[in-house]
Amino acid sequence: MSTILSMQAVRKEFKAHVALQNITFQVEEGEIFGFLGPSGAGKTTTIKLLTGQLRASSGEVRVMGQSEEGAIRRISNRIGLLSDTSGLYERLSVYDNLALFADIHGVDRKEIGPLLERVGLAEYAKKEAKKLSRGMKQRLMIARSILHKPSLLFLDEPTSSLDPANTLEIHKLLRALNKEGTTIFLTTHNMEEADKLCRRVAFLNAGEVVELGVPGELKLKYSDRSVKVLLKDTPEPVFIRNDAEGGSKLQAWMASGQVKAVHSMEPSLETIFLNLTGREL
Ligand SMILES: Nc1ncnc2c1ncn2[C@@H]1O[C@H](COP(=O)(O)OP(=O)(O)O)[C@@H](O)[C@H]1O
Ligand SMILES: [Mg+2]
Repeated sequence: MSTILSMQAVRKEFKAHVALQNITFQVEEGEIFGFLGPSGAGKTTTIKLLTGQLRASSGEVRVMGQSEEGAIRRISNRIGLLSDTSGLYERLSVYDNLALFADIHGVDRKEIGPLLERVGLAEYAKKEAKKLSRGMKQRLMIARSILHKPSLLFLDEPTSSLDPANTLEIHKLLRALNKEGTTIFLTTHNMEEADKLCRRVAFLNAGEVVELGVPGELKLKYSDRSVKVLLKDTPEPVFIRNDAEGGSKLQAWMASGQVKAVHSMEPSLETIFLNLTGREL
């Protein structure tokens, strides 16, 4: 795997306010990378730096081999962006919103039909954008961000304030795009979403990356290694440690047919974040 983008000791200040500091990470080609943090943590600022909309105060931002923001903007034909603001033309139809974008990017308008099918909007092609539900608007914006088949896709909170059905549809679409080879960088404050979708996640808190890794490995790292056992004759669950003493207890219960169920007790990403930062998302 090769690195598709990276940040090295990046700092971003807005006048006296430090929005990001000492941000270092890299994203490998082909992965879904989650950038997680509460509101105000610096997620959108990070995406703006990575798409050439802002310049770092110091440190290095590198995207597909380019490190200067003008140069990053010039590779926008290989990059897709779903920003945190709509940017749809409310009075244009679903189709025309995409047609406009297709023309700008030199994409054949024939691509629009299949894409509308793909995001479940084919029957709404003639509908004015302003009449779409929130979930449909978001799917239209995703369609627009992938119309030119970018190999790198940035999504700024793609499912925030969407209902579970729309969220699920978007997750399916992102998985499919990723399978086809699209590298995805997404921000979210939804830890469950990150856990399900992302190969790796970074936790951002108050402008700093406080942890980074594979969700399953982070859960093991922060696990207290206890095991929950449900026993036949005991109404309350019993917690034992994952060690020799716990093992012999478990062995004895199992041998006497006492054990109804055994559960490992890894913390959720949410709990890990809370423990690291003292704050909820
Ligand atoms: N253009 C700007 N001017 C001044 N402060 C800004 C600007 N953009 C963002 N900030 C500040 O930087 C911090 C990070 O913002 P942002 O990246 O939007 O966070 P997030 O997307 O994680 O909610 C916030 O404190 C925000 O108020
Ligand atoms: Mg934001």
